[in-house]
Amino acid sequence: MSATTQQNVPPDGTGTVVGHLDDLAVAAMKMVKVDGHRICLVRTSEGVFALDQACPHEGYGLTTGELDGNLVTCAWHNWKFRVTDGVCVLGEENVRTYPVAVDGDGTLSVAFSQPDPSELRPQLLTSLRHGIEKDYVGQVSRDIVRLLRADTNPGELIWEAVAYGAPRAEFGWGHAIASLTDCLSMVDHYDNDDRALPIVQAIAGVAEVERDRPVQALPTPVVSMPPDGRGEFRRLVEAEQLAPAQSLLRGALHTGATAEQLRPWFTDVVSDHLLSYGHGAIYVQKAFELLDRIGWERADTVLPHLVPRLVYGTREDKLPYMTLFHRGLRQLDLNGLAEAVSDPNEGWADDGRLSSALLGGDRTEAALATGAAFAGGAPIDSVLDVVVSAVTERMLRYDPAGEFDFHDDFGWLDITHGLTYAHAARWHATDRPVTPDLIRLVLWTAFLANWTGRHEWHSGVGQRAEVESRSSDLLAYGRSLQHEALLDGTTAFIVHAHAVKMSVAATDEAIRLGSSLPLDATARFMAAPKLERFVAATVTRSIDFLSGRVQRD
Ligand code: FES
Repeated sequence: MSATTQQNVPPDGTGTVVGHLDDLAVAAMKMVKVDGHRICLVRTSEGVFALDQACPHEGYGLTTGELDGNLVTCAWHNWKFRVTDGVCVLGEENVRTYPVAVDGDGTLSVAFSQPDPSELRPQLLTSLRHGIEKDYVGQVSRDIVRLLRADTNPGELIWEAVAYGAPRAEFGWGHAIASLTDCLSMVDHYDNDDRALPIVQAIAGVAEVERDRPVQALPTPVVSMPPDGRGEFRRLVEAEQLAPAQSLLRGALHTGATAEQLRPWFTDVVSDHLLSYGHGAIYVQKAFELLDRIGWERADTVLPHLVPRLVYGTREDKLPYMTLFHRGLRQLDLNGLAEAVSDPNEGWADDGRLSSALLGGDRTEAALATGAAFAGGAPIDSVLDVVVSAVTERMLRYDPAGEFDFHDDFGWLDITHGLTYAHAARWHATDRPVTPDLIRLVLWTAFLANWTGRHEWHSGVGQRAEVESRSSDLLAYGRSLQHEALLDGTTAFIVHAHAVKMSVAATDEAIRLGSSLPLDATARFMAAPKLERFVAATVTRSIDFLSGRVQRD
């Protein structure tokens, strides 16, 4: 063999001598070290090749594997690599290769180099995209650590998941977007490589949920915007005109609409209805918070794919179980209440009527008491404080045995929405003029605080569980729960996503209230037995349905 037979010949003088051809038989491998780096040297009938000794899967040595022609198989988990170029033909990730030179006298040299991180980044991003597409958590995880070491901004890494997941979300962005946003906010709690944990959890959720789904094409942006784009968007969403609503929104984005201008468009539509147990308001909050971090220029990917959630979400307020609440709502003058709250009574404090109504079983009184608070000038935040306290109480009172009452489609996840919905309503109301729409949105949160007690009404259980607060340092307590939410104590993504969402919302709310109770309630939720798969419950309810039994309201 001469140097000319080798495919990758290093320039003169750049290689490190690693041995002699006579010491490496054809169809043999051996480990050598170059600059302290372990290299797997392989000789086949086609030449001599150098690969990283560490298998890209878990780092075991490739020389302990088997060589068959130009294919090396890692002994540990059977990944297979082509030695000529390092391509992984079975497994998830290619192995790096290095040029080898064979001098006329048979001396072998390897041109080992540590790639410049900035040069490496495009390759790593390509590899990360492949990992996301295939839902290869190992590959995603390794690439995230490498990319963080190459100084990649965490927001850019989350963007990869957004770019993959948002267009594939079949019914619009859902729990994955909420998780991406909350996990990205958690990155600030970690240093160096440890930042990978929240990032990989967020990306793994997207990969798991959106894998193999077809891309949902967006309609083209409208060319000429109507004078009242905001009102038109609201009308289109209400009329379930998905494509025109997306097209209008894209038109606004393409003509330079800002976050501040578009935020009210979304608050309008999530205040029109109690959408899917509060999910509409929560996802809008998360989408805008995400764009704050990854850049508004990405709004055209994030927001139009959120619209199906708002158009097709369940309008809970149209369902019979809200009739009694509407009886109270009809007696309220939302315009008058908005006017009263516009000149707020900062000294307002609940005299007990509102909290009793939220924690009682009377849905009409829940609406009337919330209206009375606003009529007395209660600031929106103060009313939401009472709502959050009530929902916290619900979570502390919940009997987890109800979780396994398969005949009743109501449980832990439903109850958690009371808190995350109120938290989202707070975001929608922040720095905004008080309008009848905002008053209505808060009324919906009050309804949910009341409604999440339905288990207590049915079962008669209503005792607060004994909980021990873990810490009086609310920020540290909240962050410990957020970390715990990332540790895979749950199996189903949807349950994991609720733990993430709750721990973030509860931290903010606990600090605002100066009380550990929202965190205590979240800790209880996270530690309690929960349904994870929902298969047995679905079977039970299918039998109920086909036997003519109806869900209780
Ligand atoms: S370490 Fe090589 S396949 Fe797992």
